[in-house]
Amino acid sequence: MIIPVPAFVAPEKMDVLLSAEQIADRVKAIGDQISQDYQGQSIVLIGVLKGAAIFLADLARSIKVDNTFDFVAVSSYGRARVTSGAVKMIKDIDNPIEGRHVILVEDILDTGLTLSYLRGLMLQHRPASLKIATCLDKPERRLVPIEADYACFKIPNKFVIGYGMDYAERYRGVPDIRIYPDNPPPGH
Ligand code: IMP
Ligand code: MG
Repeated sequence: MIIPVPAFVAPEKMDVLLSAEQIADRVKAIGDQISQDYQGQSIVLIGVLKGAAIFLADLARSIKVDNTFDFVAVSSYGRARVTSGAVKMIKDIDNPIEGRHVILVEDILDTGLTLSYLRGLMLQHRPASLKIATCLDKPERRLVPIEADYACFKIPNKFVIGYGMDYAERYRGVPDIRIYPDNPPPGH
C-alpha cells in the first residue's frame, strides 16, 4: 500500500496529552523502580528503533544499576496487520544476550504484535531474564496477549506523536506527547 505524503500539521496546533514534565517524572520513577528491581545486577536495554530512541536515552540516564544498551529495528507489513504477526527484523542486536538480564524498551505497546514477535526472538538467545518497558500502553488495541512490566502511561485509543513517536516519520523530536488531529490518521 502506498500512502501519499501527508500535509505538515504544526505540532503547536495539536492538543498536548502528556507534558515534557509529566513524562520526565514518570521516566524517573520507572528508572528508580528498575534500579531497585535489579539491585547488584547488570542489565541490557534493547531499544526498538526508531520510536524508542528518546525514551531509552532518558530511561538509561535514570537507571542507577550497571547497564548497557543495544538496538533492534523491525518493519511491519503496513496496516494490514494480522495476528500471525507480520513483523520482520531488519536490524538485529550487536552483542550476545545469553545469560543476561534484558529489558526490551518500546515507545508504545499497541496491538502487541511487535513486542510479542521480538520477545519470542530474544528468548531464543536464552537471556537470564526478559522484561518489557514501554513509554505508552494502549491496552484497548491489543490483538495478542502481552503486558509491559514497566509502563509510564496507559493512554486511550488515540494516535499520538512526539517523544520519539512519529506520523510518517515526522514529529519524533517534539518534546511532549500530542494527539494527532486526524485520528486515526490515514494508513494507521
Ligand atoms: P504494535 O504494538 O505491534 O501494534 O506496534 C507498536 C508500534 O506501532 C509502535 O512501536 C509505534 O511505532 C507504532 N504506533 C502505535 N500506535 C502509535 C501512535 O499512536 N503513534 C505513533 N506510533 C504508533
Ligand atoms: Mg512508528
